[in-house]
Amino acid sequence: QATSIPADRVPDMGKRQLMNLLLLGAISLPTGFMLVPYAAFFVPPGGGGAGGGTVAKDAIGNDIIAAEWLENHGPGDRTLSQGLKGDPTYLVVEKDRTLANYGINAVCTHLGCVVPFNQAENKFICPCHGSQYNDQGRVVRGPAPLSLALAHANVEEGGKVVFTPWTETDFRTGDAPWWA
Ligand code: FES
Repeated sequence: QATSIPADRVPDMGKRQLMNLLLLGAISLPTGFMLVPYAAFFVPPGGGGAGGGTVAKDAIGNDIIAAEWLENHGPGDRTLSQGLKGDPTYLVVEKDRTLANYGINAVCTHLGCVVPFNQAENKFICPCHGSQYNDQGRVVRGPAPLSLALAHANVEEGGKVVFTPWTETDFRTGDAPWWA
């Protein structure tokens, strides 16, 4: 008896389908509109170059131009920029006044404090619990269990510094990258 639909129910079925359609439209329309800015938000800014990446930004949010940066940051300098996913990331100026091809994520691997660079000691020293990292971000004193994360830092065509994820071996330790 379950197979036959009573005649008086048929119009209801039609109505229900219409309701479902309307409901679906009501839900999917605003969702569709919202997806556009939502998706745009997650598209890495700048990029443009092959392989995308995230353009490094300075303290006030401007794109970092390598040549300009090197005019204002001397050999041995480690200054914070905004890196991948907005993480505070040090740009490294080598002794020969070139930009290192890696950036150092400043987030302490112990409990996540941002670790300042101590120029006098040539180390990163965490103010929270005293962990220390050498000038490449390799951990040299606990409680931090791991070295600071790396990101590739390359200069793209327009001269901007671009970060991309570091998924290869950690050159400081020879280990697999714990952060990738
Ligand atoms: Fe850096 Fe604890 S958070 S030492």
